[in-house]
Amino acid sequence: MLDCKNNGLGRESVQVIDRRLCVAPMMDWTDRHCRVLHRLFAPHALLYTEMIVSAAIVRGNAARLLEYDAREHPVALQLGGCDPVELAQAARIGAAAGYDEINLNVGCPSDRVKSGAFGACLMLNPSLVAACVRSMREAVQVPVTVKCRIGIDDEDSYEFFSAFVDAVAAASVDALIVHARAAILGGLANDGVPRPGLSPKENREIPPLKYDYAHRLKAARPALPIVINGGFTDLPAIVAQTESGLDGVMLGRAAYHNPRLLAEAERAVIDPAWRVPEPWKIVEDMVAYARGQAARGVRLHSITRHMHGLMAGREGARAWRRFLSEVAAKPAALPETLYSALPILSLGLAA
Ligand SMILES: Cc1cc2nc3c(=O)[nH]c(=O)nc-3n(C[C@H](O)[C@H](O)[C@H](O)COP(=O)(O)O)c2cc1C
Repeated sequence: MLDCKNNGLGRESVQVIDRRLCVAPMMDWTDRHCRVLHRLFAPHALLYTEMIVSAAIVRGNAARLLEYDAREHPVALQLGGCDPVELAQAARIGAAAGYDEINLNVGCPSDRVKSGAFGACLMLNPSLVAACVRSMREAVQVPVTVKCRIGIDDEDSYEFFSAFVDAVAAASVDALIVHARAAILGGLANDGVPRPGLSPKENREIPPLKYDYAHRLKAARPALPIVINGGFTDLPAIVAQTESGLDGVMLGRAAYHNPRLLAEAERAVIDPAWRVPEPWKIVEDMVAYARGQAARGVRLHSITRHMHGLMAGREGARAWRRFLSEVAAKPAALPETLYSALPILSLGLAA
């Protein structure tokens, strides 16, 4: 999976990571329990943490924030921030904790992030992003990557996007993950009239997807690894992207709501011998995991809240979700409680 060789971008020791299939960073969703679940579906996918603000790592409880399970590898740490010195410190701490890649968030549109002047609004400041990438790269040996949008507000031309990439490529970014839509943050329109921005949810749905920007970029910069993200919900679309010459596809919401798709993508894109695991097998593995976590005081619900999509599209899906909400979510629920849902899980066999 990880191959230590020159990636053509300047550092001898940087690892080349298989990016063909990635699971997106998703705040409040892709915590360590969720990543363990996703790993069971896709043994080779590159998993991303939720965004963690660099200041929290440097000045907060880094050990707790960066905790993960060894089976999550390869796992990338996504950082939020805009201070090159602090980001380098956070990257160093993350790499020392064993993360396989450090990623900078240049795509999050939330107000909280905007007020900290990082996330998507950094698209307007490519030289600062480049300074952050340089500083992080000097601090660590693992790859340093950027996850960005294609534009921001009215600045959504290919030329704008390409100029942004020129700056981060000059800083030798190791790969770029492109969420292929602009972020609408609001502010002043060209005529000076204030315009409302979109909510984070709207910003994942309303601005049109422009996959062609990622393809044009790959044609212009074949040596720069490019992963495409945004709106992939079915296998043919995922396969088509990987066959198009891009280096990988990142799945977000679809992987969370229907992890079976992740397993199908693993089989289609990476390992034809991979067998999509049955829900009962996932439950068996998660019970074993939850037992270990329970011994450390983790409530079952913290784990099972990510398992609602286990039966997606199958008979029994609704009963399974109800079981998780009404039985497994009880404060005193034990991991073994999940076994009482085996009859529901076997319903899916008939679907
Ligand atoms: C609940 C949620 C939280 C998200 N949090 C982050 C985040 O922390 N960092 C980030 O770069 N993107 C975040 N995103 C955006 C996703 O990484 C991804 O770019 C977006 O959902 C588009 O991909 P998709 O259509 O496959 O879901 C989040 C998305 C969702 C749904």
